[in-house]
Amino acid sequence: MDVIEVRGLAKRFGRVQALRDVTFAVPRGRVAGLLGPNGSGKTTTLKILVGLLRRDWGEVRVFGMDPWLLGPEVREKMGVLHEKPLYPRGARVSTLLRYAARLRGYSYSDALRVARLVGIEGLLGYTVSALSRGYLQRLGIALALLGDPELLVLDEPTANLDPLARAELLRLIKVLHRDLGVTVLVSSHIIPELADVCDYAVFISGGVTLDWGSLEELNRKYGVVSVYEVSTPRPRELARELISLDYVYGVDVHGGLLRVRVAGEASPELLNVLAEMGVDIESVRHVGGELGQLYSKVVTQEAAG
Ligand SMILES: Nc1ncnc2c1ncn2[C@@H]1O[C@H](COP(=O)(O)OP(=O)(O)OP(=O)(O)O)[C@@H](O)[C@H]1O
Ligand SMILES: [Mg+2]
Repeated sequence: MDVIEVRGLAKRFGRVQALRDVTFAVPRGRVAGLLGPNGSGKTTTLKILVGLLRRDWGEVRVFGMDPWLLGPEVREKMGVLHEKPLYPRGARVSTLLRYAARLRGYSYSDALRVARLVGIEGLLGYTVSALSRGYLQRLGIALALLGDPELLVLDEPTANLDPLARAELLRLIKVLHRDLGVTVLVSSHIIPELADVCDYAVFISGGVTLDWGSLEELNRKYGVVSVYEVSTPRPRELARELISLDYVYGVDVHGGLLRVRVAGEASPELLNVLAEMGVDIESVRHVGGELGQLYSKVVTQEAAG
């Protein structure tokens, strides 16, 4: 089932047509990147999904409900990190967590659990103003996780973070998805940044969604390199066999794990070859590709088409 379904969304602010035609779906269990340059309409789209803005035109369904008409019901099932969250700077982290939990009908132990999940349990006694930007974002994610949402909506969670904090935050999103099984929609204007985190992408430009789908499908469709992780008891032999295939661009061996870079359009052939090897393959997983390259192909093909 699709957790999010959006069709033909349009939104105007005065003279600015922020959204012209936003159409996409996000299936349950995905980590979907909403990717596009500054001003392309990411925040406007997310605010409409959360029920904070009313669309001018189009269809929006989140868990099958219209978020403008059924805001509280929809928000009950989702956690949101806004683009510019405002916290009371002088409050202690523990006070803020306690207050947020009470406001939403949860206990302080629920708040402590989400604080542990995002790794801020050691900072409960700090005032909010003493937190680094990276830890502020973690606090925001902790608040979003209160109440075990099925969907996490994160608007540019890595904005204004240094490279290390950025990498740590992306790793946190990956772990939360793995451990909680939550569906994630995360926006960024730095297109390649989410390559290791997302398995699904929605590309937006000038208020129009250019294309969307799983990275595996999109890489295949646009002929962009895909990366697979193959687990095998005989990594070196297998690496030698795979590298001799002309559509395999590279193979790295990490213990019993191979990372195989393959021409996107040849993914089905690679999967067939691996399937024929039978017992020597323990698992095969698509782990991403070149998001930046994919984005340029999507943009140019859209322009050409
Ligand atoms: N409240 C508003 N009033 C007027 N114009 C707005 C408003 N909100 C957004 N816009 C305009 O709508 C367009 C889309 O803005 P939006 O914030 O959705 O983009 P974005 O993709 O989130 O950008 P960024 O990467 O900078 O966060 C922009 O041209 C923006 O200036
Ligand atoms: Mg934005």
